[in-house]
Amino acid sequence: MATNRIHDVVIFGTGLAGLRAAVEIARQSQDQVDMALVSKVQIMRAHSGCAEGGTAAVLREEEGDSYDLHAWDTVKGSDFLADQDVVDRFVGISPREIRLLDHWGLPWSRRKDGRIYQRPFGGHSYPRATMAADKTGFVEMQTLYDTLTRYKNWTNYHEVFATDILVHDGKFCALSAIDCTTGEYLAIRGKCLLIATGGLGCLYGFTTYSQTVTGDGHALAFRAGLPLEDPEFLQFHPTGLVPSGILMTEGCRGEGGYLRNKNGDRFMDKYAASRMELAPRDIISRAEMTEIIEGNGMDGPNGLDYIYLDLTHLGAEKINHRLPLIREVTMKFLGLDPIKESIPVRPVAHYSMGGIETDINGRTRIENIWAAGEAACVSLHGANRLGTNSTAECLVFGGIAGEEMLKYLKTNRIELPELPNEMLLEAENCIFKNMLERNGSENPYILREELRAIMDFHAGVYRDGKELEAGLNKVRNLKERFQNIGIHDRSRVYNTNLINSLETENLLLLAEMLLIAALNRTESRGAHSRRDFTERNDKEWLKHTLVTLSEGKMRITYKPVTISKWKPVERKY
Ligand code: FUM
Repeated sequence: MATNRIHDVVIFGTGLAGLRAAVEIARQSQDQVDMALVSKVQIMRAHSGCAEGGTAAVLREEEGDSYDLHAWDTVKGSDFLADQDVVDRFVGISPREIRLLDHWGLPWSRRKDGRIYQRPFGGHSYPRATMAADKTGFVEMQTLYDTLTRYKNWTNYHEVFATDILVHDGKFCALSAIDCTTGEYLAIRGKCLLIATGGLGCLYGFTTYSQTVTGDGHALAFRAGLPLEDPEFLQFHPTGLVPSGILMTEGCRGEGGYLRNKNGDRFMDKYAASRMELAPRDIISRAEMTEIIEGNGMDGPNGLDYIYLDLTHLGAEKINHRLPLIREVTMKFLGLDPIKESIPVRPVAHYSMGGIETDINGRTRIENIWAAGEAACVSLHGANRLGTNSTAECLVFGGIAGEEMLKYLKTNRIELPELPNEMLLEAENCIFKNMLERNGSENPYILREELRAIMDFHAGVYRDGKELEAGLNKVRNLKERFQNIGIHDRSRVYNTNLINSLETENLLLLAEMLLIAALNRTESRGAHSRRDFTERNDKEWLKHTLVTLSEGKMRITYKPVTISKWKPVERKY
């Protein structure tokens, strides 16, 4: 039997977007709204803490930056798939977020004159990456969490794994969840829900994501009937450390680092001569893969051939001051000191441009559900995100979602939606009978490993129809095998065997969905680069993909891109 926990607002996911929303609700309501903060990890372990390079914002209009320039960079970077009204709103609000965090105590890196320092980043025409050395996400998380602790009206459901978003009569009524620490089954009820669970990057083996990022929010929303938008656009960051995949921040190149092939050549002049190492990520990732495929890379372990990120010319002082984490990580993981030696890197799965479809206010098609941050697709990034626009998005649209939920609660005098008992019981049986009691011969850990290898191979930087289709068949086969898994741990307390299997079930669903969307889009745009359809095709494909799950089947529909200022033109750098 489930234990009912009742709140006004349920925030599912406690990374930057979730925390920012919580702070907004707490401060605007003067602590009058009762919030549940639900996370499968402890709050400060959310993957946002791993964000390194910075947060984009226009702070220097008097020195030459402008909102229009940030908006144009974002739209061009998106290969013209971003909704331009969303982009405009975003660039207008992000500077306020930097100042708010400053007031809340965030120690931004500073210039010698005491003003906030900003460094260059890929695809941005002006240095606007606002940063705390190379630990920006961690420091932002800490500042938001500190700020939240000034308020009292919230309950921390950490190490609580959500298994279902329960929707009745067209409204969210509860998050069903397992308290991992006790095994207790919970119905966390609220008048509205924010999904802010981050990305789905553990679909891939070679990834910058923490092992916890398994797309749970995406999968639960998808099963609850919400469309996922533009999921085929998966970003590969150009500099994943070989062989671990740990992020070597683009800040390395923002501070002046070079990319070199095995001959020592700075090869980016062949691919984006005007921007070199600071071209957008999709372009650099393709350039690196081309170098590797043409034999200009170095042989790496397990097929992870690589090129070099060279910081040796930057000098010890700059590296220690602006990139301390990079030095610490390369020394710890490879015994390599970047002051003296180049770093082995290659493109790595890093970010999902798509996500749960929302409107410009972060609201989904279910009236009392919002989504924000990487879990959402408010349609800011289109086909390719610019670095540092993600932490900024979490702050901007997390704040907006918080404000909008508050308005909803105030103006509609909302009652707690009804939660039918049978619905809850069915959700409970799905976990504790259908899943926990599986005693088949397949090992769920091995299935996850196979899945990630399939995605690495079949849905990487370069794609083609045959490979995508073969990948889809393999994933479908894994889904069938998953029905026959065995769960050996039958206990309730900290049952990681059960949680891991539930996560893998989510990943399998999302892999199939991503591959279907990628196979369907027969053009190349941004991060979706097909060898069999090499050109961008605005005539047929200047539109968003929507994938919906209905009666077990995935269906694709489309919606138009909002183009207000800039008509698509050829994208050259
Ligand atoms: O390279 C980085 O520091 C990553 C930044 C981002 O994804 O926005």
